Amino acid sequence: MKVDVLLGLQWGDEGKGKIVDVLSPNYDIVARFQGGPNAGHTLIFNNKKYVLHLIPSGIFRENTVNIIGEGVVLDPVIFSEELSEIKKSGIDLTKNLYIAEKTSLILPTHRILDAAEEAELGSAKIGSTGKGIGPAYIDKIGRNALRVGDITSSNFKNKYNALKNKHINKLKSYKFDYNIAEYEEKWFEGIETLKKFKFINNSYFINEALKNGKKILAEGAQGTLLDINAGTYPYVTSSTVTTAGVCSGLGIAPSKIGEVYGIFKAYTTRVGSGPFPTELFDDNGKILQKFGYEFGSTTGRERRCGWLDMTALKYSIEINGVTQLIMTKADVLQFIETIYISEKYQNYPSGLFPYELNEQVKPQLKAFKSWKENLADFSSKDEFPDALKDYIHYIENETKVPITIISTGADRNETVWCNK
Ligand code: GDP
Ligand code: IMO
Ligand code: MG
Repeated sequence: MKVDVLLGLQWGDEGKGKIVDVLSPNYDIVARFQGGPNAGHTLIFNNKKYVLHLIPSGIFRENTVNIIGEGVVLDPVIFSEELSEIKKSGIDLTKNLYIAEKTSLILPTHRILDAAEEAELGSAKIGSTGKGIGPAYIDKIGRNALRVGDITSSNFKNKYNALKNKHINKLKSYKFDYNIAEYEEKWFEGIETLKKFKFINNSYFINEALKNGKKILAEGAQGTLLDINAGTYPYVTSSTVTTAGVCSGLGIAPSKIGEVYGIFKAYTTRVGSGPFPTELFDDNGKILQKFGYEFGSTTGRERRCGWLDMTALKYSIEINGVTQLIMTKADVLQFIETIYISEKYQNYPSGLFPYELNEQVKPQLKAFKSWKENLADFSSKDEFPDALKDYIHYIENETKVPITIISTGADRNETVWCNK
């Protein structure tokens, strides 16, 4: 058996949570392999909405084991808050949620460092989610991190204090007021909550599961253009978001990767700072923002909106080895008069994604007719309006990858399987 992967091809928020929830009945295990509580994955079913930050989106399926993998950075406070929300729906998470022993912990001081760093950058700020992601990964790479497996050791408190003191020394170089006490108290309560869960040797667990014929889906967070290497650096997150991150974040070999589902919105959004060649500042941008309800699931910030960008999409497909595409939010484009796609960047060879995106990078736009129809009631691709079929055909023809799922609304049921 191999590990299938679902990951974002844009700047995050492509609808990963919804689609992982839809796919998860086909899988025995769903595993998050990177990122942390910067993620906000929305699931809607039975008229209820859940936003997951750390817990994988297979959690609402009774027979699916969910794993927080060792590539993740975990904040025990956010983890506990999320548990309390899910518990309300009667699910006992201690049974089907396992955590990798090597998962790094986000300390209260990581959050403070994140905020202090952003404040110092001023108008050049990354626009981070403020969850301490960058500083936590810095400690991991710098070989200083505390990990989930450490919390049961007798000297955990000493290790915690040593790292906290390092952070406090670092904070002296910033002009930044902070208060640790309140969050720290909740953090230690969160550590006690964590102890109720099963900790696993991630790599062993996943590889044994594969040998035993289990079906595994790796759930990505963020999107390829936010990847630490592949993304629009420095306006990126601090983890490996791409398929490569599945190998390091779950402890499996590249040869164990199976299908790679690449998910994208029918247009593009970005939250936080950084370049965005197809960004719209006109009424069309406002329409996408309004009808797409484009607010960050984690921070509530307005998402910036723009046209679909084929250069970025092709690049993301290539570096992730995408075998199937999933398109979401096609329904939102019904409100636009004439839809555009950026075919390429002017003055750049077709297919080149310049890593220094700047104001010189101008999209070359191609117009498409709008479908102007509500898609919620369509259950097959054949029934789609011709204008939507043309849009789909163009993308498949350009990327040479089939779109196998089209999402036509936020609910679990608003999903069209194209090969059925
Ligand atoms: P994720 O981070 O990739 O899981 O995506 P988010 O949950 O942050 O953002 C996606 C948003 O779009 C959420 O509010 C979803 O409920 C919503 N959504 C997902 N798919 C669709 C769709 O096909 N149509 C519409 N209108 N909304 C969708
Ligand atoms: P999901 O999984 C959209 C963005 C932040 C900021 C940059 C760095 O829901 O798709 P960080 O807190 O990671 O240091 O912020 O990355 N960002 C996301 N944008 N969706 C996400 O996750 C994101 N996670 C981080 O807005 O620009
Ligand atoms: Mg999100």
